[in-house]
Amino acid sequence: MAEEFIPVSRPHIGDEEIGAVAEVLRSGWITTGQRCLEFERRFSELVGSRHAVALSSATAGMHLVLRDLGIGAGDEVITPSMTFASTVNQIVLAGARPVFADVDYNTLLVLPRDIERRITDKTRLIIPVHFAGAPADLDAISDAARGIPVLEDAAHAVGTLYKGRHVGSRNMALFSFHPIKNITTGEGGMLTCNDEETVKRVRLLRFHGIERDAWKRYGTAADPGYDIEEPGFKYNLTDLQAALGLAQLDRLSWVNARRGEIVRRYQEAFSGMEGIDLPGVPGYDHSHAWNIFVVKVTSVPLSTFMERLSGRNIGFGLHFPACHTLRYIQDRFGKADLPVTQALSGRILSLPLYPDMDDVRIERVIEAVRDALRSGG
Ligand SMILES: Cc1ncc(COP(=O)(O)O)c(C=O)c1O
Repeated sequence: MAEEFIPVSRPHIGDEEIGAVAEVLRSGWITTGQRCLEFERRFSELVGSRHAVALSSATAGMHLVLRDLGIGAGDEVITPSMTFASTVNQIVLAGARPVFADVDYNTLLVLPRDIERRITDKTRLIIPVHFAGAPADLDAISDAARGIPVLEDAAHAVGTLYKGRHVGSRNMALFSFHPIKNITTGEGGMLTCNDEETVKRVRLLRFHGIERDAWKRYGTAADPGYDIEEPGFKYNLTDLQAALGLAQLDRLSWVNARRGEIVRRYQEAFSGMEGIDLPGVPGYDHSHAWNIFVVKVTSVPLSTFMERLSGRNIGFGLHFPACHTLRYIQDRFGKADLPVTQALSGRILSLPLYPDMDDVRIERVIEAVRDALRSGG
């Protein structure tokens, strides 16, 4: 009989989450309302930002921030190629040009010096990624940026600290609550931001351009009328999702501690092993949220390694196919000079990592990796 499938990720949903969502279901108000406000308040408290705006996804937030900054044709946005395609899609859909910066081989974090050398008079925004839950070097990036706005991609980074402060507390950051992330709302995202004007505009654009959201118009006895100064989108988070998010926030320290324990087991088991390079961690003071555990496979082709893990009924992820290699990016923008990202492309793979992995599952993954490397090319 085949052994049970071990997925690359699985959210921890307990009775508290189910109870919180059921309560909203019974309440008569299930879309954006009081739970959302509470989730925003708790999240900005966690991060230490002045504001937080709940959204249907981090991708939606990327769209709105690019729009708020007026980024479009003729503009350039610098981001690593080693990121999720959603960011690059939004840059291209806004009409701008993505300019890719290279990453460090060990940490997969964007190199501030490489950002600096790619800045031109067209650069309007820099989007570093807190890859896998490790913080990018924000001090060095803000020095390199010389006043150009920085939007932190904190999709992997709920619970990540950089030099003692939560990432996303400086000005703008986007977090994701997709089910693979450290906390989930099913789908969802959050913009943290300290700038009043940006927050005001994003709040408007999040919901059709209507100043007063549905809660204020229909959840109370107030006048339900509205006017629109600028047309917006439909990117709000529901109270059903926010209730799930609030219950998940209560678990965050346990979830991240458990992720760290599993990572330590992997590190001990794989350290010194031929054919696999482990994720490095930054040299500066930080706390890692370990959203994903990305290894580099150096002894066997990645396709062979994946086949062998599949043969053991073990799931894995690809974070990420480098964006500069995507067909439409190559067709529109040509080749990019990214030696490290290029070398990593086709070598990296994410191993299963989620808080409910027990010892038996951890050992199964370790054994499967060991065997997949041992069997040679
Ligand atoms: C690095 C990175 N940025 C952005 C996103 C987009 O997040 P969302 O799925 O919430 O739109 C993801 C999602 O997986 C991601 O991994």
